[in-house]
Amino acid sequence: MASGKPPVVVTCTAPVNIAVIKYWGKRDEELILPINSSLSVTLSQDQLKTTTTAAISTDFTEDRIWLNGREEDVGQPRLQACLREIRRLARKRRGAGDGDSPPLSLSYKVHVASVNNFPTAAGLASSAAGYACLAYALARVYGVEGDLSEVARRGSGSACRSLYGGFVEWQMGEQADGKDSIARQLAPEGHWPQLRVLVLVVSAEKKLTGSTVGMQTSVETSALLKFRAESVVPARMREMARCIQDRDFQRFAQLTMKDSNQFHATCLDTFPPISYLSDTSRRIIQLVHAFNAYCGQTKVAYTFDAGPNAVVFTLDDTVAEFVAAVKHSFPPAANGDRFLKGLPVTPVPLSEELKAALAGDPTPGGVQYIIVTQVGPGPQVLDDPHAHLLGSDGLPKQAS
Ligand code: DP6
Repeated sequence: MASGKPPVVVTCTAPVNIAVIKYWGKRDEELILPINSSLSVTLSQDQLKTTTTAAISTDFTEDRIWLNGREEDVGQPRLQACLREIRRLARKRRGAGDGDSPPLSLSYKVHVASVNNFPTAAGLASSAAGYACLAYALARVYGVEGDLSEVARRGSGSACRSLYGGFVEWQMGEQADGKDSIARQLAPEGHWPQLRVLVLVVSAEKKLTGSTVGMQTSVETSALLKFRAESVVPARMREMARCIQDRDFQRFAQLTMKDSNQFHATCLDTFPPISYLSDTSRRIIQLVHAFNAYCGQTKVAYTFDAGPNAVVFTLDDTVAEFVAAVKHSFPPAANGDRFLKGLPVTPVPLSEELKAALAGDPTPGGVQYIIVTQVGPGPQVLDDPHAHLLGSDGLPKQAS
């Protein structure tokens, strides 16, 4: 029977992050502990974000979750791990004698609804934003404070880096219980205002090999991955932190490209091999190197995760010319006017010299669209009750 008490409802948003030093490989599958540290840039939520509402109530009889409007299996192990972890932290806090959290709320069941403002299948790190947002929203309804790396990480390793804005490192840690495997902000979102991020959406198809299975096989079979984790990444972490600290774009860009390439090399070294890059991805790599060679300096950098889409870093003064170069090499198909999304870009003509430098025949439609964005802040709580995705009955509001 209904208690008549309204549910406790919280709505949060969380960002996507893009690794410039990649996480690939776990030393503990259950706790999701990595074999190397990683470093990422948090993207603005104006273009890419997950919004999640969590509600708890005595009236709910079971935990339930809706993703992008569809009810999903709440019994999924990683989701269960997040729920268990947040309830454990809430219990711990209660045990510490902090009495101002809602009484009995620990035994309350939770309803969760989550939506992305970008296509999940676009191969953008939706699980990172999704689990960071889940951890953040659950922490607020159950009254948990402090670092949530442990909770988000249990959903998806890279999710712990989406708990902070700006430039973030995930320290691999050493302890077997993972208590020291945490994310930490290196520099806030305002640190490097000129930095721009372009997401070149190549294919909206779902990826062939998911990262979880992919990295498992890599850990089992790739000697190169072991070498990378032990002998390459530690120095790269320090070097990348310095590049960011100094806002040294050339060094930042070169290291970003090298680390992406090494990650994809470990995929090829995996047996059977994994390849996430497509022909178009490789053409983008060529385009970036040709563009940089023409400029006589490293003005643009690419990075690729477990899929064919490119994420490109550049500075604000180079965006327009690079976009023109992409349009030249990948003439937009029918949706020419919707090719550019996100921050506005003033069109510039491409010089004949640059056209000539971008060798190779144009590939129409190779890049479907570009999302132009920048560095952004970490998760946010939305105060406006209209933002809630769940109604007072705890069920998803009808999409209007
Ligand atoms: C290539 O975090 O998706 O994007 O921990 O198994 O959920 P699980 O993997 P996930 O892996 C991300 C891998 C990557 C590189 C990175 O983001 O660091």
